[in-house]
Amino acid sequence: MNTPHDFPIRRGCPFAAPEEYDALRTEEPVARVTLPTAREAWVVSRYDDVRALLADPRVSADIRRPGFPALGEGEQEAGARFRPFIRTDAPEHTRYRRMLLPEFTVRQVRTMRPAVQARVDELLDDMLAAEQPVDFVSVYANAVSTSVICELLGIPRENLEFFRDVTRISGSRHSTAEQVSEALGGLFGLIADLVAERRKNPGDDLLSKLVVEHLNTGAITLDELLSTVGITINAGRETSTNMIALSTLLLLDRPDLKEELRAEPSLMPRAVDELLRVLSIADSIPLRVAADDIELSGRVIPADDGVIGLLAGANHDPERFEHPGRVDFHRPDNHHIAFGYGVHQCVGQHLARLELEIALETLLRRVPTLRLACDREQVGFKHDSATFGLEELMVTW
Ligand code: HEM
Repeated sequence: MNTPHDFPIRRGCPFAAPEEYDALRTEEPVARVTLPTAREAWVVSRYDDVRALLADPRVSADIRRPGFPALGEGEQEAGARFRPFIRTDAPEHTRYRRMLLPEFTVRQVRTMRPAVQARVDELLDDMLAAEQPVDFVSVYANAVSTSVICELLGIPRENLEFFRDVTRISGSRHSTAEQVSEALGGLFGLIADLVAERRKNPGDDLLSKLVVEHLNTGAITLDELLSTVGITINAGRETSTNMIALSTLLLLDRPDLKEELRAEPSLMPRAVDELLRVLSIADSIPLRVAADDIELSGRVIPADDGVIGLLAGANHDPERFEHPGRVDFHRPDNHHIAFGYGVHQCVGQHLARLELEIALETLLRRVPTLRLACDREQVGFKHDSATFGLEELMVTW
């Protein structure tokens, strides 16, 4: 057997999967890796294998299993304590997911378009009135994603940076279990106060609905509610923040693509899906444990071993996507799996698409002269957090 590779593998180009994934796909499609926690696990990199893995009822997402391949010790320990539903199995997982799904259907999300557009315009007004240069991640990408999720839930959005700090700590591979627990504890405390208020005065926001229909009826406990709302905020804002920021940087690097979108704004929905595929920012989010022996590409992953379905590996598989590194807004049959696959596939994907479409279209239309306010080489990337992105992006216009 080959020596295990160190995992995660760093990206060379921020807009593509790590180059090493090409060799993995052809030579070791199911490869043994050593995680930062010193545990060993498997990674799967071919499109067909990743889909088969994530759709397989014999895989578990239960973070309490000893083989669970968390990328940080803090995530593993705190996850086992708080049990976010993304890291649980049926029937528990199904119960939480069913509570959220009706709020995130295509139809439901469509009704949010005017509110999201208004909020994006307001944030751009603020950005344009600010002294230049500004940090685009903070004033726009994070502000858009955080205020959209807060508005949906009915959470005051005064403290946008607070939510960012929570994810920064809970999503970092270097955080200890205490640091993760403290960060999540702060978030849960804030939600718990709002829950107490909604019990007295319910409104028409999602949090009120969850309180009235699920907490007050005894279908869910307070701790379960806090964990479910907490993971929705965490999963929903960090990912969209990174997608808005990284897509913007890619468009600044590629004026031809920017012009294509400015000339033909109706391309935006397809462009968003292509950006989701190319950037694959949630590459190693699907963490699983084999609950039985599972065979993929001729190799057996033994029961109880951890296994990670590499989304960037799948989305850059040349067997599935012609010239996968090429950004092509006209790509036919773009069935990427940037939102995962199977029972844990992203609950918020329609909302994410809406946010990205509006955030990027409005930015290109209203700030066509946007440019970097630092050397391109100075732009720093987040290599050590759960999803790939940018810490800061200084811009001017
Ligand atoms: C561009 C943005 C986004 C990306 C790339 C993304 C990606 C993902 C991926 C890959 C998963 C599956 C994880 C797994 O299989 O273990 C997932 C799950 C999830 N996402 Fe997203 N997501 C995004 C935006 C959002 C938004 C806006 C929300 C909420 C409003 C959200 C809420 C969730 C939740 C609650 C889950 C857990 C679903 C489950 O376990 O059943 N995500 N996301």
